[in-house]
Parts: sequence; structure tokens; C-alpha cells
Amino acid sequence: MVDEPLVLGIETSCDETGVGIVRGTTLLADAIASSVDTHARFGGVVPEIASRAHLEAMVPTIERALKEAGVSARDLDGIAVTAGPGLAGALLVGVSAAKAYAYALGKPLYGVNHLASHICVDQLEHGKLPEPTMALLVSGGHSSLLLAPDITSDVRPLGATIDDAAGEAFDKIARVLNLGFPGGPVIDRLAKEGDARAIAFPRGLSGSRDPAYDFSFSGLKTAVARWIEAKRAAGEEVPVRDVAASFQEAVVDVLTRKAVRACVDEGVDHLMIGGGVAANSRLRALATERCERAGIRLRVPRPGLCTDNGAMVAALGAEMVARNRPASDLELSADSSLPVTDPHVPGASHGHAHGHGHDHDHVHEISKDNLYS
Ligand code: KG4
Ligand code: ZN
Repeated sequence: MVDEPLVLGIETSCDETGVGIVRGTTLLADAIASSVDTHARFGGVVPEIASRAHLEAMVPTIERALKEAGVSARDLDGIAVTAGPGLAGALLVGVSAAKAYAYALGKPLYGVNHLASHICVDQLEHGKLPEPTMALLVSGGHSSLLLAPDITSDVRPLGATIDDAAGEAFDKIARVLNLGFPGGPVIDRLAKEGDARAIAFPRGLSGSRDPAYDFSFSGLKTAVARWIEAKRAAGEEVPVRDVAASFQEAVVDVLTRKAVRACVDEGVDHLMIGGGVAANSRLRALATERCERAGIRLRVPRPGLCTDNGAMVAALGAEMVARNRPASDLELSADSSLPVTDPHVPGASHGHAHGHGHDHDHVHEISKDNLYS
């Protein structure tokens, strides 16, 4: 439909410079420039390098997206940008660019939440999200079960990881196995040739008295690392494919079991899975199987839309426009630890950009962690 909002979305929260253009729930362009190869030799994302790469890629990526979509910047109904959470310096590049374009073109600006965008992107593939939406969000920095009565204004956490994010666990185990960074895709690939039942790794927080919807992957990570160390100490060869498959099974078993349980408990008949780890083939297969058995409709975007991209930001921005959410003002600032409960960031003059009362050092912790541990 031509009267649906035409929105450009900018994503720079980590190492991907993503620019997407959507019309309502239709994807028109998804341009990405990644600095992942530059980070790979450091074994994790180096924030300063990511910021510099965003700066260099920003304008060319925006131009590429406009060309791919076959639209002119003048035709846009809004410019959406990830305002957080993410790496502070990286976010700043995207937010500054979005403000500059919005101001120069005289278009409304929408500061949006990276995590809500990971959920909303599914609209580009499977149409409007049902309300409420039940979402399992699994990325490099986050693992949460969320119930969203309205993805533009009301996102409620049911549970989250108490230590590592699921993607972080993939990245760390890949490092122990010397498989490079990021770890998810390579573990996914190797696991296909391994035996998932070869090693019984622990399922975190799965006891009957444990919190039903919270996750923990740090114990699993330690167990896998110890198992590998013991093999090496004994001079035995590490069966990399079996370790990858057994580790991956432990992660996706817990994720899918808790997500299906949340749907059943809350009486929600569908489950959306989003974030980089949702690209995992075994997670997709096991979720399909368990949802089918429980009579739950599964919605997972194609892998390219699960990992960070600009289309997801445009998708949430378009939903903001469609629902007449107020635009953000030009005082909008990047918030590295923006809580998942804030899908939309109106800007400073709405008294919102500062003072969530949460810990602003959190993202520095994540980035250091990715880098050194
Ligand atoms: O959402 P995302 O692209 O960036 C963040 O917002 O964090 O997620 C990146 C994470 C990384 O930890 C990466 O290893 C993981 O997603 N990932 C995967 C797969 N593809 C990416 N994990 C498991 N299997 C995959 N196929
Ligand atoms: Zn992400």
C-alpha cells in the first residue's frame, strides 16, 4: 500500500552498519557494512574500531539503501535509529547521522530500542505481530523472555539471563575451541556433523525450584571449558564436533523449553524468536518441534534478519509512525544501557533520555567481556 509509512532505519549498536528501508511491513532495502573481519583477530568487538568503521560506512550505506529501494530521501516519512542498548561510541555515530539527515531533510526522527527492533523485524517476514507478542530474544548481549502487549510502547520482561547471554556463551566456547569470532555460526555448522548426545552438559536453572523464565549459561560455559581442558590434559584429541553439538543442545534445550512454558502459562498461542542466536539452525528446529507439540505458532525471521541489520530498526520505526507515536526531538541521545522496557526514546526535552536509574557502566562491561574474557 502506497499510503503506508516509508521509513529508513539506521543500526550501529555493535559492529554492523545497517541501513534498511521499509514501507509499512514491506522490506525495500537492507544494506549492511560489517567490520566483523577487523575485530576477528582481537577475538571480540573492539569498540573504538567499530565506531571508526561506522563513521566510514555510514553515508555510502545510506546511499546504497536508497538506491536499492529505488526511493529518494525526500520521499521518506521518517528516520529511525537505534538509540540503545549497545556500544556507546558506536551508537553515537548512528544517532548523529540520523539527526543530521532528519534535520537536513525536515523529517521526523524516531529513536528506537535495539531489542524491540529484533522482535518487530518479524513483521517484514510474517506480517503484523499478534498482541500481545511473546518473544524469546537471544543475542550477543541479551537473553530474555518478553511479553509485549504493544511493541512500540509496552514491553514486559518475564525473565532474563542472570549471567551470560546465549550468544556470548557461543562466542566463548568457540574461543576455547579456537574456532574464531563470532562463535555462533561456526558452532552451528560444526554441530551438524557432531552428536548432540555425546556429552551431557548441564542445563542451567532447570530445577523445579529455579525461576521458571530466567536463564544461566555461565555454569554451562565452565563445564564445557573444564571438559575440554581435561581432554587436553590427558593428551586426548578434543572431539570438536561432538562438543559443539552437545554444548549447542544444552543451550537450545533450555531456551526452547522455557519459552514454550511461558507461552503455555500466559495463554499465548504463538512464539517469536529474535536476535542473532535465532539464526541458529538447531534452535529453529527444536523450537519448531516443541511449538508444534504444544500447539503454538512459531515465528522466526530468516537468519539474515535475525542478526543485526537496519531493516529491523526501520520496521519498528514504521510501526511507530503507523501508531502515531510522537517523534523524538533532536536532543535525542544514545543510551548504551537503554532498558528493554523502553521501546521508544522520545529525547531529552521529554525528560526521558537520562535518569532511567540503571547502571550506565553495563555496556562497558559487556564490551570488555567480549574483548578480554
Ligand atoms: O543480535 P546480534 O547480531 O548482535 C547483538 O545484538 O548482540 O547477535 C550476535 C550474536 C553473537 O554472539 C553470535 O555468535 C550469535 O549472535 N549468532 C549465533 C548464530 N549466528 C549468530 N549463535 C548461534 N548460532 C548461529 N547460527
Ligand atoms: Zn542485536
